[in-house]
Amino acid sequence: MKVLVIGGGGREHALVWKLAQSPGLTRMWCAPGNAGIGLERLASNGETVRCVPISAEDLPKLAEFAIKEAVDLTVVGPDNPLALGIVDLFLARGLRIWGPNQSAARFESSKAFSQDFMSRHGIPTAQAGTFSEIPAARAFASTLGGRCAVKADGLALGKGVLLCSNESEAFRAIDDVLVKQAFGKAGGKIVIQEMLEGMEISLHAICDARTALPFPTSQDHKRALDGDQGLNTGGMGTYSPAPFLTDAELARVCESILGPWMKGCIAEGIQFRGILYPGVMLTRQGPKVLEFNARFGDPETQVYLPRLKNDLLEVLDASASDRLSNVHLEWSDQPAVCVVLASGGYPGSYEKGKTIFGLEDAHQIPGVKVFHAGTAEVDGKIVTQGGRVLGVTATGPTLSKARSLAYQAADLIRFEGKHCRRDIASKGISQSV
Ligand code: AMP
Ligand code: GLY
Repeated sequence: MKVLVIGGGGREHALVWKLAQSPGLTRMWCAPGNAGIGLERLASNGETVRCVPISAEDLPKLAEFAIKEAVDLTVVGPDNPLALGIVDLFLARGLRIWGPNQSAARFESSKAFSQDFMSRHGIPTAQAGTFSEIPAARAFASTLGGRCAVKADGLALGKGVLLCSNESEAFRAIDDVLVKQAFGKAGGKIVIQEMLEGMEISLHAICDARTALPFPTSQDHKRALDGDQGLNTGGMGTYSPAPFLTDAELARVCESILGPWMKGCIAEGIQFRGILYPGVMLTRQGPKVLEFNARFGDPETQVYLPRLKNDLLEVLDASASDRLSNVHLEWSDQPAVCVVLASGGYPGSYEKGKTIFGLEDAHQIPGVKVFHAGTAEVDGKIVTQGGRVLGVTATGPTLSKARSLAYQAADLIRFEGKHCRRDIASKGISQSV
């Protein structure tokens, strides 16, 4: 099978790396890809993966490319092309593609849609309201004593959430999003949620139009600095499993979310073929959904795929063609930890083009895989090209061992300005001992 993967971050490197192991895969392209993706080889014939310089948002060019190369299956990584309707466009042109269509992708592209859907179908979530007028928004925020999350309705590069601890912060946040349009058109409407307290985890389920198969738990680290301090980022590291739920508890949590979600989708004629990724807060009153994403998490993918025993191509193919009820997902017992190495200044402004040293040394450590995110090859050297540069991932017999392998490898890699959190997986490790 010939496969095109869309995207060029750490998540897409993990997808390409895992798909490349599939015996049924004979050629793979990635648009636009990155330096690490271009080094992967297919297990079936030793061919390298080909990076194609087409942006993940250039839908017509991507479709043209898939037609020209007779691609059998396109796999979409990021949220933007899904929200722009890449799946609908490809299907209309007779091309097979994996990912939710534009209507199903609203679970991520519209927080108002998601919040209303959760209340229609009894999915446990925060107390919330959707507003486009300031007085009503302020009145609702006041009923929460100002302790709330103010969220732009649309996609805002993961930055459209303002957490407020009192009324004046909440009023300012409402003004910033609705009046000053801090997030542009994405903030034409806002969702205000009560502030929830508890441990936050990531869930994933692979879905087709009738079946949702849950993954194990994982946990992201969204703040830039140790101890969950500093600015929000795309994610500074992950680990899986996150040992805050027993298997039986996880099954109950998944049932309480995915059961009514799937029933609601069927009742409303939404056919969701892809990954549903709920962000969940484990509160004293039980698990509550903070938001839905309609794609693999980044860097959650970097810890899930090294643990997945199934052939990923078969799983994605089954999801795209409503055959998931025949699939049984199998996971390695070995935990995985991913430490993100970021450019100096990230998540603020940062310089690019810094030469990266030590990648080969890091790969010598057993159980380690370095996924590239913002990297490029220039004159035979691998250089930094983005804020999140690498995701150093390790598996090991225990969470603690996986973490020490990941940091051992991370410390062998050098580039000017490199920074990372030193406490990835700490919460999980203190829970396990
Ligand atoms: P979201 O993009 O909706 O997941 O929000 C980004 C981050 O903001 C989440 O990962 C949480 O850490 C935090 N957050 C969002 N909504 C809430 C809420 N209702 N209560 C507490 N924290 C929240
Ligand atoms: N791990 C955060 C995200 O993918 O949105």
